[in-house]
Amino acid sequence: MHIPPIIFYSKINSTQDKAWEFYDKGLSNIVVLANEQSTGHGRHGRKWFSPRGGLWFSYLKTVNIQPELLDLISTACGVAVALSLRDLNLNALIKWPNDIIVNNKKIAGILISTKIMKNKITALVIGVGLNLNVNINVFPEELRGQITTVLNELKHYTDELKTLILILQKLDEFLDNIILNKATIHKYAKELNYLKDKHIKALLIGNKMIEDIVKDIDESGKLITAGGLALSIYDVVQLY
Ligand code: BTN
Repeated sequence: MHIPPIIFYSKINSTQDKAWEFYDKGLSNIVVLANEQSTGHGRHGRKWFSPRGGLWFSYLKTVNIQPELLDLISTACGVAVALSLRDLNLNALIKWPNDIIVNNKKIAGILISTKIMKNKITALVIGVGLNLNVNINVFPEELRGQITTVLNELKHYTDELKTLILILQKLDEFLDNIILNKATIHKYAKELNYLKDKHIKALLIGNKMIEDIVKDIDESGKLITAGGLALSIYDVVQLY
């Protein structure tokens, strides 16, 4: 298996920002990994708490994909991380679009940022934040009720590099031929759908709030509700 070059920092502001700096310098297909981030960020500019012990990395990949495939890409990334955690014996599920949940708590988040040129996605940075070998007490009190860590669940330390390689392998497997893998990604996304039959509130772009019951995930990676909505990652700011 081909492992992309890994550029490691003990402490950095954000691996995501660093990956885009490398892109601007002409690099691609690299991983930026850090022990600790001072300004780690999540979807829609939310702060991402990134203490030592976590697995914080960003994978810069050059691609040539239509923007309409972003829901499927995002689903594929969620499936790749969830399956990797299942290989570690965790009962990981995917909370659409791609939060990873174990025992009803968030254990990992994924941030996907893109470069679009001439109506094609030409580069992706897939940022993965996995609460790996972090003691739950290290997190601020207000977060502790909603999140968990691999250490907290398994009660033992897990090899960081092996976990990283497991995730990278699965990301490459799905993303290097997204169309060919569409049916497999969809099968896992349906099986591992944490939100199935749950009541959700969603804040949409434009400040509109909706409430509905989740029915499914369709083959393009959109969230399907009982009320007939097909929500895209482009539409939703936050799910409650
Ligand atoms: C989310 O759930 O909102 C996504 C969180 C993504 C966090 C990761 S940690 C590595 C990479 N660097 C960042 O600043 N963010 C992502």
